Amino acid sequence: MLDRRVVGEVPEKPHLRAKSAAGEPLYEECLTRAGFEGAFSILYRLHRPHEAEPSALTGAFAAPELVAARQPLRRHYRCPALPVLSTSAEARTPLLVNRDLSLGFLRPSAPDRAYFVNADGDELFFVHEGEGLLRSAFGDLSYRAGDYLGVPKGVLHRFVPAPGTPQSLLWFEFSGVLGVPPHYRNPVGQLRMDAPYTHRDFRTPTEVAPLDEGIRALTVKRRGAWHGYALRHSPLDAVGWDGAVYPFVLPIRSFSPRVGQVHLPPPVHATFAAPGALVCSFVPRPLDFHPRANPVPFPHSSVDVDEVLFYANDAFSSRRGVGAGSLSHHPAGIPHGPHPGAYETEPTETWTRELAVMLDCTLPLDATRAALGVEDPDYHASFRAT
Ligand SMILES: [Fe+2]
Repeated sequence: MLDRRVVGEVPEKPHLRAKSAAGEPLYEECLTRAGFEGAFSILYRLHRPHEAEPSALTGAFAAPELVAARQPLRRHYRCPALPVLSTSAEARTPLLVNRDLSLGFLRPSAPDRAYFVNADGDELFFVHEGEGLLRSAFGDLSYRAGDYLGVPKGVLHRFVPAPGTPQSLLWFEFSGVLGVPPHYRNPVGQLRMDAPYTHRDFRTPTEVAPLDEGIRALTVKRRGAWHGYALRHSPLDAVGWDGAVYPFVLPIRSFSPRVGQVHLPPPVHATFAAPGALVCSFVPRPLDFHPRANPVPFPHSSVDVDEVLFYANDAFSSRRGVGAGSLSHHPAGIPHGPHPGAYETEPTETWTRELAVMLDCTLPLDATRAALGVEDPDYHASFRAT
């Protein structure tokens, strides 16, 4: 994802014979992307990492049940109306899907009972409510409301929500590799000084030590199906790791927004990119400062992308009828813009406190039956001026 990091004990060079402090052999697990051409990490484990046998399935979320393609209309889904489900593995609820990605929402209530490996794609969460730990072989990583949480494809993990804390998370699964937009990097791979966030804004596991939670169940998602395995040892047995593939947190409020004389288009808020997808962060910021600037988004027909907006608070001034936890989907093919009144009214504010996550994607999104269950049927018509 970003820079190379080293945590715990690692030998002086990869692929050497290495031993633990107790004199037992250490086993490498090389987690590699793009075959052996992309980013990689090497974990050093106390046990052979490739010992798992087929077993009963423990925890799996419902496969998306897509509805037939519908007339392009502006859509609004109320995510907080989705049910609270047991563990994160069961609670991931796909709402909108295309070939490049799935996006959904989850409201877990309990720690995962099994470790989970998503072998279908990189996952990105936006923590809307709650806090907890992402536990993985790379070490523990804490998360809280307002954090992006990235879990690379193939990273074994489980969610441990803080007890008694309502949890809700926006969720993306990308078929391609998720990363920072390439133009934020300089030629040696550092984040440029004019990028909207810095290396220091990312949190990653800082400690790793063998841990046996007594859990031996593993769930693997591959090709849209779920498979159960029984592990022979605790998979949290790494004494160290080294590489550029690891779970990470980026707090959305660490994003430094761009402001212009007149309204700037959404890509200035780009935060993450994946093939066919751009994730943007709208954070509190001063409004456009030309004396005659219209500080609301200009009506537009962005004819090559579907646009999804998740509202993390209730301060999106150009829209009404949406609130914290709302998800809007504006499909390519029909124009969209501010609600009636927002564009026409003389601006009085000089600052916006909006907090939102936006997705632009190049392939059309189809809704799932779960999405229809929380759809606001009046949303499209709400843009009609009276
Ligand atoms: Fe838009």
